[in-house]
Amino acid sequence: MIPETVEAHGIRLRPTRPADVPDLVAGCGDPETRRFIPAMPDPYDAASARWWITEGEPAVWAAGGCAYAIADPDTDRLLGGIGLTRLAVARADYEIGYWVVPWARGRGVATAATRALGERAFAAGAARLELLTHLENEPSQRAALSCGYRREGVRRAASAARDGVRHDLVAWVRLADDPAGPTARLLPDLPGGRLTDGVVTLRRLEPADADALHRLHTLPEVVANRVPPTPPDRESIARRCRLAAGYWLAGDAADLAILDAATGTLVGGCALGYDEPATGQATLGYSLLPEARGRGLATRTVRLLAGWAFDVGVARLWAGARVENVVSQRVLERAGFRREGLLRGRMPGVAGARTDSVVFGRLASDRD
Ligand SMILES: CC(C)(COP(=O)(O)OP(=O)(O)OC[C@H]1O[C@@H](n2cnc3c(N)ncnc32)[C@H](O)[C@@H]1OP(=O)(O)O)[C@@H](O)C(=O)NCCC(=O)NCCS
Repeated sequence: MIPETVEAHGIRLRPTRPADVPDLVAGCGDPETRRFIPAMPDPYDAASARWWITEGEPAVWAAGGCAYAIADPDTDRLLGGIGLTRLAVARADYEIGYWVVPWARGRGVATAATRALGERAFAAGAARLELLTHLENEPSQRAALSCGYRREGVRRAASAARDGVRHDLVAWVRLADDPAGPTARLLPDLPGGRLTDGVVTLRRLEPADADALHRLHTLPEVVANRVPPTPPDRESIARRCRLAAGYWLAGDAADLAILDAATGTLVGGCALGYDEPATGQATLGYSLLPEARGRGLATRTVRLLAGWAFDVGVARLWAGARVENVVSQRVLERAGFRREGLLRGRMPGVAGARTDSVVFGRLASDRD
């Protein structure tokens, strides 16, 4: 049985009280909370908060779950909410969910509360805790990783937003005997958030990069390397920028902007895809806007990205270039890659055709 009050990891979990109503309204009515917890009443007013205290919270307990206010142990002021919903009695399987008031975010409150409740739930017999996060909810996915949850996959169209549009959710799961965390990541964060050699800077793609990246990916010579080789629309590029954090946390891909180090202007894009983690093999790609070409920036980019990849444990990097793309092949050679062969018909071409790809490889042990 999980206790009514829990004090651990610098936070207190306790029943929600009438004095919490103003903080409940501010926290649950916040746009970020409403976006990522679409089941929250909308609008969320004092009556919604009072309903939660007198009916909602007791109903969760009555159904075999639990619901708490997260409070500051010194002041007892409400910092957020957290709870468990029983999913399958026979499988001792629960879903965990939480929110934090906007003024207490980024201080480890969700992480501490998730740890504290998880420990009590496992001690009380839970076998499996599942956390479902929106693909764009970076803080929540980071909290899950910090608390030892592992990414099991994507539940397609698992959530209905207020406008009726359904969204995929990522399933993060921790079992009773999993390590406490943090969960190791295939692709850790860049040191200090960026890589730089003083001339180019690489950092993770951000939503604000969408326009520049769309211009880049609709250039004919860049489209020719895309799969399939057709120009993307603006929304698909904007989505790519919004999802970059999630794919990175998942260990699937590091999608980066190439910036002029002096001005911070976006001059291109590059990506590392971890296509074969079991053998330690990853692939990389890059492209520059026309005004940034001819200055060695692509070679600098590949050197920086390859250096980081080998630092985080990649054993072998490969890259493909079209046969006629001699400039890209030269970039790879200058960045320490060796030509390894020709893969016939590897890439989808225009109108059902296939194009050959020259393959280059570099090992962690190769020198520049
Ligand atoms: C998700 C939420 C509960 C996180 O609460 P929090 O107390 O700020 O989380 P923490 O301080 O414990 O931080 C968790 C991680 O997110 C990171 N983080 C915090 N704010 C961030 C932000 N704005 N952008 C990116 N990362 C952020 C933290 O650095 C930490 O990562 P780390 O462990 O790698 O250092 C809070 O943002 C929230 O209430 N959001 C709206 C409701 C919601 O999304 N609920 C979860 C539904 S699944």
